[in-house]
Amino acid sequence: MGADIFEYFAQPENADEAALFAEAMGDLSGLVTHGVVDAVSVDGVSGVVDVGGANGDFVLALMEAHPHLSGQVLDLPHAVGSARGAAEKRGLSDRFSAVAGDFFTEVPPADLYLLKTILHDWDDDQCTDILRNCRSAVNEGGRALVVEMVIGEIGEPDFATRADMAMLTMTNGQERDLDEFDSLFAASGWRRSKTYPVSGGYFGMELVAV
Ligand SMILES: C[S@@+](CC[C@H](N)C(=O)[O-])C[C@H]1O[C@@H](n2cnc3c(N)ncnc32)[C@H](O)[C@@H]1O
Repeated sequence: MGADIFEYFAQPENADEAALFAEAMGDLSGLVTHGVVDAVSVDGVSGVVDVGGANGDFVLALMEAHPHLSGQVLDLPHAVGSARGAAEKRGLSDRFSAVAGDFFTEVPPADLYLLKTILHDWDDDQCTDILRNCRSAVNEGGRALVVEMVIGEIGEPDFATRADMAMLTMTNGQERDLDEFDSLFAASGWRRSKTYPVSGGYFGMELVAV
């Protein structure tokens, strides 16, 4: 279609499809958000940035569970309006902001970064750039939480391998196994400190800065 998937969605004539995609991502989030919100510790955290956060479903759910948190969505310009609308609907606007930007260039500072189904869109070098930008901007003692499917034993039937084929056809990305994730984390100044399964084949991977 003459553009990569996110350039395509950013074109004004594709706004309806972009909105549908963001909504679908929000629905998918519903499958896993609850489990991750319950599992992640927000001790010592006050500012959370949802990197490529689309409608903000993830950070808004975390803010609802923890009234001391303030949250921000970083996403492409066409995507941030819906995040503001969602925050308003949930009565969280006073603790929420949405910023238009490019995570390959810079991310805002935070105590906790959320990267949910972001890394699977990109190749290893691009993932390292995103993670390095988070590492450069993270506040002292801060962390990151990556939520992705994780490929298990090759040959075992699982959804991650099918999603891997979808990523191959639509994006520069792929699904990864734990070793592959760890290589990305090591290359960008992070270490995986905690891993937990949530529903639907997704895992939460908490990262600390090294
Ligand atoms: C697969 S969606 C995941 C959305 C959300 N994290 C979730 O799980 O529902 C990827 C998101 O990354 C955003 N994105 C793509 N390229 C970006 C860039 N260069 N800078 C910031 N956001 C970007 C897209 O607009 C989209 O909202």
